[in-house]
Amino acid sequence: MPVIEIRDLSYRYPDGEEPVLRDVNVRIASEHIVGILGQSGSGKTTLLNCLARFLAPTAGAILLDGRDIGSLSEREYRRNVGVVFQRLNLFPHMTVLENLVLAPVKSLGASPRRARREAREMLERLSIGELADRYPSQISGGQAQRVAIARALALQPRYLLLDEPTSALDAQTTGEFGVWLRELRHDICFIIVTHDLPFAEQVATQGIFLSEGRVRAAGPVAEIIDQASAPSPAGA
Ligand SMILES: Nc1ncnc2c1ncn2[C@@H]1O[C@H](COP(=O)(O)OP(=O)(O)O)[C@@H](O)[C@H]1O
Ligand SMILES: [Mg+2]
Repeated sequence: MPVIEIRDLSYRYPDGEEPVLRDVNVRIASEHIVGILGQSGSGKTTLLNCLARFLAPTAGAILLDGRDIGSLSEREYRRNVGVVFQRLNLFPHMTVLENLVLAPVKSLGASPRRARREAREMLERLSIGELADRYPSQISGGQAQRVAIARALALQPRYLLLDEPTSALDAQTTGEFGVWLRELRHDICFIIVTHDLPFAEQVATQGIFLSEGRVRAAGPVAEIIDQASAPSPAGA
């Protein structure tokens, strides 16, 4: 079973005086959907960016199956870990299908013909086959969120990192999106940064609760949400 281990990780931005992540220790087994929870400013996105290798830890390390992610080649790393940003970054001048085809052809060296076939299969499997020939401006926010995930899944990573995936969705679309994510869970480990506790409760199996850059609790999501929604102690 693949596993990500975050060991004694601290991160301080080059221009920052204080670390924004301190002594983070977590183990993420890939059979889970993991919610990274916490208030705005608690360090969630910074932690996700360390996992995505966009930021190198100031101290400590992140291990993927026992190997420091800093030592893996770009190709090897991207085969394991994909990212969907808060801004989805779909290419506006390409159709949905073309958005899905680009990375497998450019990064994995797939033939365009095969990449197109697999992209269509992926869209069908994710129940958005009818969107293949539309442009990003012609689909809704919820559909764009699914397309961004389909595009990341086209590279067949084992982990997919999502930053605030519901921030642009209304409550009903969020609920549908959550059901949809749960259906994909057997193929992939989602690690989802969110401040949306009902969504986390619906989707995640495990939770990590950050506060002021430290892990305050980690474990089954229902327990973590209890702690995350409790008022912070006075003066803390
Ligand atoms: N590029 C940056 N440079 C300096 N400080 C940053 C930068 N990005 C975020 N921070 C600071 O790091 C802390 C954690 O931010 P972030 O990880 O974005 O939190 P969250 O995603 O939980 O809202 C905040 O205090 C924020 O102001
Ligand atoms: Mg954030």
